[in-house]
Amino acid sequence: MIQEYEPEATRRHAGDVESSRASRGWWDRNADEYQSEHGAFLGDDRFVWGPEGLDEADAGLLGDVEGRDVLEIGAGAAQCSRWLAAQGARPVALDLSHRQLQHALRIGRDVPLVEADATALPFRDGSFDLACSAYGAVPFVADPVRVFKEVRRVLRPGGRWVFSVTHPIRWAFPDEPGPEGLSVSASYFDRTPYVEQDEEGDAVYVEHHRTLGDRVRDVVAGGFRLVDLVEPEWPAWNTQEWGGWSPLRGNLIPGTAVFVCERA
Ligand SMILES: C[S@@+](CC[C@H](N)C(=O)[O-])C[C@H]1O[C@@H](n2cnc3c(N)ncnc32)[C@H](O)[C@@H]1O
Repeated sequence: MIQEYEPEATRRHAGDVESSRASRGWWDRNADEYQSEHGAFLGDDRFVWGPEGLDEADAGLLGDVEGRDVLEIGAGAAQCSRWLAAQGARPVALDLSHRQLQHALRIGRDVPLVEADATALPFRDGSFDLACSAYGAVPFVADPVRVFKEVRRVLRPGGRWVFSVTHPIRWAFPDEPGPEGLSVSASYFDRTPYVEQDEEGDAVYVEHHRTLGDRVRDVVAGGFRLVDLVEPEWPAWNTQEWGGWSPLRGNLIPGTAVFVCERA
């Protein structure tokens, strides 16, 4: 008989290896639910930067993508890569989770897929013109500078690296979409990771918090220049909730931060 357990939520240290192992397991177990819950909003071939619904077709944060080699990191079911391909780019969609990539295959076999960890990219130096990530990998790794250095290595000179993460200010509030999510409950400055662990104390889900200043320093330490920091406002058309992201909170505090960087 399979023993059901309720993971315990806590804040504690989690290193590179434990974080990657937890992410792979969690996304493999939860990919079906993620895609059935959010697939319609994400669209099969749309490029959305986060729950606010900021669309790359409107934002143009990557610049001109036509004819460019683009690496999408933490691609999930590769919806963004499919949009990039439709614009004339040559995308490669990379993800740690086998199950997420199976969803990519279910939607279509039109984009090259790579199963790998963002902390060790299996590509030659200077393989891509652009790299992007919508909430993929960066929030889940213990050492984001390691990822950024890898991204820098595989980018050609002047290449753009654009990634979105949960806005750091959200870490000071409960992850709730309603009014209970509007009162500060934790220190913004506490970088201790959020961890869900099983009965043996092994992490089954890990998310890492970096303050806004940490993120800027990480970008620079990774060999990039910060070109823009976009904080999408909640649009009137978007009435859906996505976990702790909701119209109520989105109208008051930012929920997503999109970092636009260029290879220094
Ligand atoms: C919130 S989902 C975002 C997926 C997709 N970008 C989207 O917008 O739907 C995060 C994705 O990052 C992937 N991921 C987490 N840690 C990773 C890592 N270290 N390397 C590569 N992918 C990772 C997960 O497997 C998951 O598919």
